[in-house]
Amino acid sequence: MQKIDLTCSFLDLTLNNPTVLASGILGTSATLLERTARCGAGAVTAKSCGPEPRAGHPNPVSVDWGGGVINAIGLTNPGAEEEVHLLRESKALLAPLGVPLIASIFAPTVEQFGEVARTISQAEPDLIEVNISCPNVGDEFGTPFAGLPDTAAAVTAAVKAVTDIPISVKLAPNVPSIARIAAAVVEAGADAITAVNTMPGMVIDAEAGRPVLSNKMGGISGPALKPIALRCVAEIARTVSVPIIGTGGVNTGRDAAEMILAGATAVGVGTAVWYRGPEAFQQINDELRAFMAQEGYTHLEEMRGLAIR
Ligand SMILES: Cc1cc2nc3c(=O)[nH]c(=O)nc-3n(C[C@H](O)[C@H](O)[C@H](O)COP(=O)(O)O)c2cc1C
Repeated sequence: MQKIDLTCSFLDLTLNNPTVLASGILGTSATLLERTARCGAGAVTAKSCGPEPRAGHPNPVSVDWGGGVINAIGLTNPGAEEEVHLLRESKALLAPLGVPLIASIFAPTVEQFGEVARTISQAEPDLIEVNISCPNVGDEFGTPFAGLPDTAAAVTAAVKAVTDIPISVKLAPNVPSIARIAAAVVEAGADAITAVNTMPGMVIDAEAGRPVLSNKMGGISGPALKPIALRCVAEIARTVSVPIIGTGGVNTGRDAAEMILAGATAVGVGTAVWYRGPEAFQQINDELRAFMAQEGYTHLEEMRGLAIR
């Protein structure tokens, strides 16, 4: 049988395999990130951090509704200053494993995005993911920065102006043209794109007569998100040439293959880890290898974007 090569070049980084721990799941401590890396993740993303510490929303903040998960954690985080320590500690644990560290940032204003990026850069993560797409943060109409090309580009430019570390801008699925937003952030300097964040939704407890989440609405992730994410990745890959971390509903190696066939370079995994723990990475990689062997692929590059040609 031919040897299957899962290594993946992403910007200047070499990943042992294309799987990436998505932000918000297990990314709250250095030891959890290390454990996830030891379980087979190709790269790991810390939970999004903002300018100030935030307690987040009261419980319940995440539930399995049958077709996936809905969450409104409320961006619980220790604030950028404290996050620098977590990232430094994580980097030291991850470096011997050859697993890159991705920091994730959010902020309520364009200027504060720049400030958080500057602070976080002190820890020298391998990549900074710029979360402009949290469904629970936005203007008075609920529009996140990722909702409009101009605001998405403004945040991208503000972050690029203060750091030399490459950035991946994380986009939202609920926009009329994600290709247009992707083009705007690449024009503003984005080195990569993460697609996608969760899809806004609501789950109601009919007997109780109220929404299940304390925040009422939240972000849908997991299986229900996969076809939406694949469509987003394909539209972005057709429009820009930066690498994409395709994220949304990846639960199996076959799902990961679909993301790469849609044009993703790396594959984010969140809800599968929420359900199954970090062991999900080994399973996904084993299944991806088996799928490639069955279909006659030896390297990820042979598959990338094949479904959109
Ligand atoms: C419980 C939970 C918390 C999340 N927190 C964050 C976060 O802090 N920052 C972020 O950019 N995305 C966050 N996300 C979104 C994920 O990173 C990912 O984009 C999304 O869940 C889709 O991937 P999945 O279907 O594999 O989970 C969160 C998702 C979940 C389920």
